[in-house]
This record gives sequence, C-alpha cells and structure tokens, in this order.
Amino acid sequence: MSNNGSKKRKRVLSGVQPSGNLTIGNYLGALKQWAREQHNFESFFCVVDLHAITVPFDPDELRTKTREVAALYMASGIDPEISTIFVQSHLPAHSELSWLLNCLTPLGWLNRMTQFKDKAAKQQAESVSSGLLNYPVLMAADILLYQADAVPVGDDQRQHLELTRDVAQRFNHMFGDTFTVPEAMIPPSGARIKALDEPTAKMSKSQVDSEYHAAYLLDPPNRIKKKIMRAVTDSGRDIEFSTDPERAGVNNLLEIYQAFTEKSSEEVLADFADARGYGDLKKRVVEVVNEGLTPIQQRYNDLTSEAGYVDEILAKGAERAAEVANATLELVRERMGFLKAHV
Ligand code: TYM
Repeated sequence: MSNNGSKKRKRVLSGVQPSGNLTIGNYLGALKQWAREQHNFESFFCVVDLHAITVPFDPDELRTKTREVAALYMASGIDPEISTIFVQSHLPAHSELSWLLNCLTPLGWLNRMTQFKDKAAKQQAESVSSGLLNYPVLMAADILLYQADAVPVGDDQRQHLELTRDVAQRFNHMFGDTFTVPEAMIPPSGARIKALDEPTAKMSKSQVDSEYHAAYLLDPPNRIKKKIMRAVTDSGRDIEFSTDPERAGVNNLLEIYQAFTEKSSEEVLADFADARGYGDLKKRVVEVVNEGLTPIQQRYNDLTSEAGYVDEILAKGAERAAEVANATLELVRERMGFLKAHV
C-alpha cells in the first residue's frame, strides 16, 4: 500500500462544498479539469461537508447535497476506479489537523481573507460563526493531509491556496520538513465564470434569491436556454473578449463558450464572425452548454438510480483516503510532540 513515504506520482486534491446547486462555474473551474488531470496525477476529490456548516445550513439538505455532489463528480467524468472520491467528515483526520494548524495560524492571516469578509458581510454580525473565520485552515488541512502537489480550483480560491502555502511553510520551518507546499492549478479559461444576471459578480451556487443568477449542472435544457437568453449584456453589438466591466456580460458568454468547446480565443471569435448580434451569440452558447451538460445529466440519472451505489463508492474512497491522511497526521503529531496513545 502506498502512503506519504512511497508517493509515486504527483498528487492533486480538491473539493466542492455540498451547499446549493452546482453551477457551470463549479464545472468549468473545477470538475472539468479534475476529470482531465486524474490521468496525470494521483487524485483525491472530497465533498467538503465540514466546510458547508460554516454558514447556516439544514441537516436534511446537507445529507442530500453530499450524495448529490459525489454523484456529480462521477457524472462529470471522475472515475472512482482511477481517483479517490470521499466525504471529508468520514475522516476525523481533517478536523484534527485543522485544530492543530489553527493553533499555528496567526489570526491576522485569517482576518485578511476576502472570502471571509464577503461572506461575513452577508450575515448579521452576531450570527457569523468562528468556523467561517477558520474555514481556510480546514481547507489547508484537507490539502496538506494528502501531501498534494497541486490543487485544481477556480480563481476565487487563489487566496486560500496562498494561505495553505504559508501554513505549510510555517509548519515546516517550526517542526522540520513535513508538508509538500502545494501549487494552485487554475484553468486558462472558465476559472472566473460570472453571474448571468450580474456579470461583474461571481456565479455562485449559494445565491438562491435570483432565478437568473446561475446555470446549474442539473438544469434541464429549456431552463438553461431561458437563463442564458436572459443574460445581461450591453447596448453594443460587438462580439469580442473584453476586460471592460461595461462589457462583462458578453465577455462572460464568450468565456463560457470557450471553456465548454476548449477552442482558442481566435477560433471562438471566428465562430461568431457571422453572428447577427447578441441573440445569435446567446443561442450558440445555449447549444454548447446543453451539449456539455446532457451527457453529465444522463450519467447522473444512471448513477443515482442504482440504490446504494454512491454510498459504496464513498465508503471505499474513505478507506483509501484514510491510508494517506492518517499517515500524515501521525507524522504531524510526532513532530509536534504529542505522545502516542499506545505503548
Ligand atoms: P466551492 O464549493 O465554493 O467551489 C468549488 C470549486 O468551484 C470553483 N468555482 C468556480 N470556478 C469558476 N467560476 C466560478 N464562478 C466558480 N465558483 C466556484 C471554486 O474555485 C472551487 O474550485 N473552499 C472551497 C472548497 C474546498 C477546497 C478544499 C478546494 C475545501 N477544501 C481543498 C480545494 C482543496 C470552496 O468553497 O469551493
């Protein structure tokens, strides 16, 4: 059995929170590259349920979404024969390492996190949990337990990855070389998908107050069409990539098109050379999104129609993940000076 000591291939680890409905942003920024990279790296993909409780949550929904997200990993092409798919809370090592690292992480580092500030600002001050502040340390624990070399994520996780690197380096400096210092792996297109109804804001799975905010992976084709045809654009006609915030809507649609088709920017623009305005642009975006989502939805329906299948994969995944995670945790405990429980 391989463990940290006998790591043969480079590793990746990544995760998605089981909160809300997964969006095409989650797919293009994360899942799509996981499915590709599993052939190049030894891969660990977890459903980060412990992160999902850092904001108000419902237990029934947490249960349902945890299975749904795991099934969507597989439906998106992550093969449980190749990659390890597991649930974060099935391994106590994640919570334990998180505590150990929290005690080594300066509060100032956490106070600087923009995602904490954004999420905290959306809640009443007195209901913001200290878990939300400590969230990035749990994420660091997720990554460092597997000695991951690379972490495939969307652009919004860049700052959390920087913190993970800082925590790893601090630990290595204090207690000797223990953790691999991981790199963020951010895809060239699709890493920053914006909201359809507000193209200067990130498309988010937890923004439930607006029906036209996000395209979900499990939306039927007619709903995808309705959402994209209503996407906010501008009053111009030019179909081109742009960093101008006024033109963010068109840029976002082009980026979605590019990420689904995997074409170069030149090829994308050539595809629209004959388009007659934004209506044409939107129609073609609808086509490529639905072409991309249909097979995912079919696989999702197949996987979830077999009772117990997803749970079985998760049980096997937890076993495999534990081999690696527990070996790292043991080393950490020893380095930090904790006594072994047994003689
Ligand atoms: P989460 O659940 O918010 O998002 C999951 C993944 O989807 C990416 N993503 C996007 N990519 C492009 N455009 C978007 N609009 C978009 N929205 C989300 C995210 O960058 C992410 O890769 N903290 C993480 C979960 C996590 C994690 C980890 C990730 C916990 N532990 C360890 C990597 C490694 C999060 O909240 O992701």
